[in-house]
Amino acid sequence: MGDKLPFDFMAAHHEADKLARLKDTGAKIHVIANQKGGVGKTTATVNLAACTYSVLGDTDGYQHIFIDTPGTLADQAILDRALEIADDVLVPMITEPLCFNPTSRTIKNVIEPLGIPYRVLINGWEPRDGVADLEDTKAYIARKGWPMLRTVVRRYKIHARAVAEGTVVTHYKESGTAYRAREDFFRLSLELGYGGVA
Ligand SMILES: Nc1ncnc2c1ncn2[C@@H]1O[C@H](COP(=O)(O)OP(=O)(O)OP(=O)(O)O)[C@@H](O)[C@H]1O
Ligand SMILES: [Mg+2]
Repeated sequence: MGDKLPFDFMAAHHEADKLARLKDTGAKIHVIANQKGGVGKTTATVNLAACTYSVLGDTDGYQHIFIDTPGTLADQAILDRALEIADDVLVPMITEPLCFNPTSRTIKNVIEPLGIPYRVLINGWEPRDGVADLEDTKAYIARKGWPMLRTVVRRYKIHARAVAEGTVVTHYKESGTAYRAREDFFRLSLELGYGGVA
């Protein structure tokens, strides 16, 4: 994505050990994690950063840092290094049963043992399909006793296209869909408390 992003961006795939230095910024560090691939980690990371930056603007130093992590079991070193410096963890999941067990594994094996506060985010709900999948997912989360965010990020094609174009919700070309897609991430930022007075 790189150049077109409105906020500062750094890739650290091969330098996971250097992540610890982010702690020196004094910023709150939010790690976005789920070892299940394709659940919206990257989408949530860049759009939360965009909405937070849109509200706070350039500040004296960094206030929030969002760390995206790999969606595989193979790259756990990166996730481990990120969690060492995390203030909290956001766990996106989608409304598909295939995603339930892997999400559970990440929470139970990787996040909960560290005692870091985390919240689960439901992403990619297709409103036109009705509420059945959404309700099933919420019921699963409730059975597990996981803390869940009230905000649900809906599925919009515009998000999928945005990845290819390297853009974020605050820069979507104006349209009804763009407003709805953007609303979800501003709502999420508001619920998470980003962008207010520090
Ligand atoms: N709310 C959404 N609406 C529409 N498309 C979405 C939504 N969230 C994610 N996507 C699309 O689904 C795909 C997977 O999303 P994303 O890359 O954010 O997941 P990920 O968890 O980071 O995946 P990986 O584990 O491979 O890194 C992407 O093509 C993305 O554009
Ligand atoms: Mg990703």
